[in-house]
Amino acid sequence: MLTLPPVIGHRGACAHAPENTLLSFARAADLGCAMVEFDVRLSADGVPIVFHDDTLDRCTDGRGPVGTRTLAELKRLDAGCGQTIPTLAEVLALCAARGLAVNMELKPDRGAGAATARAALEVAAGLWSGVPPLVSSFDHDALGVAREVMPAWPRSLLVERLPAQWPDLVRRFGCVAVAAYHRGLSAAQVAALNAAGLTVLAYTVNRPGRARRLWNRGVTAVFCDAPERLL
Ligand code: G3P
Ligand code: MG
Repeated sequence: MLTLPPVIGHRGACAHAPENTLLSFARAADLGCAMVEFDVRLSADGVPIVFHDDTLDRCTDGRGPVGTRTLAELKRLDAGCGQTIPTLAEVLALCAARGLAVNMELKPDRGAGAATARAALEVAAGLWSGVPPLVSSFDHDALGVAREVMPAWPRSLLVERLPAQWPDLVRRFGCVAVAAYHRGLSAAQVAALNAAGLTVLAYTVNRPGRARRLWNRGVTAVFCDAPERLL
């Protein structure tokens, strides 16, 4: 089974710093986090960047779609507290320097799953030398390409609710883990996943009591916006 710390900083420590920024990942490390999660998508010129939404409005002073802007255009925006939208390369460098393990979530624009996975894995493979990143996605094209390009790197199937066909999906993408929305995840489902040899992760859990119940149920790791609350 995959070895993971019980708490993974969600988008860094996004309760304390603008999400998915270098400041947020540094903050997660300062708080004692051993692992962080972040979201990877592509700029218009094909550079993997770390940003959650497909539009700029919520997290920057810009407006409109992210994927139609070049990296140079994106870098002119304020992502909060004077931070810029980081490239995947910048985030991986910081994580390596701070000893943070990573869960790289591929978060492609519609139809860009394969291209996003190819570009992200190429950058990551060129930079990362420690424990391989856990690669996850809701996007099946992205998971398929991740398997093709870096077969040895662990993959996690991301779902909101566990679909009935999870055994097929896990087999198709060679996943070693499944990550699900914590409210939809029953004890019976966790037991079935564990019995199939899969590591189970749950998002996003910010209350210690809830995290404890999930850990006791067989969930290995939870994603948390304020990791110090659970550590
Ligand atoms: O990877 C877990 C979690 O990050 C998935 O949902 O929307 O926060 O990327 P979201
Ligand atoms: Mg995510």
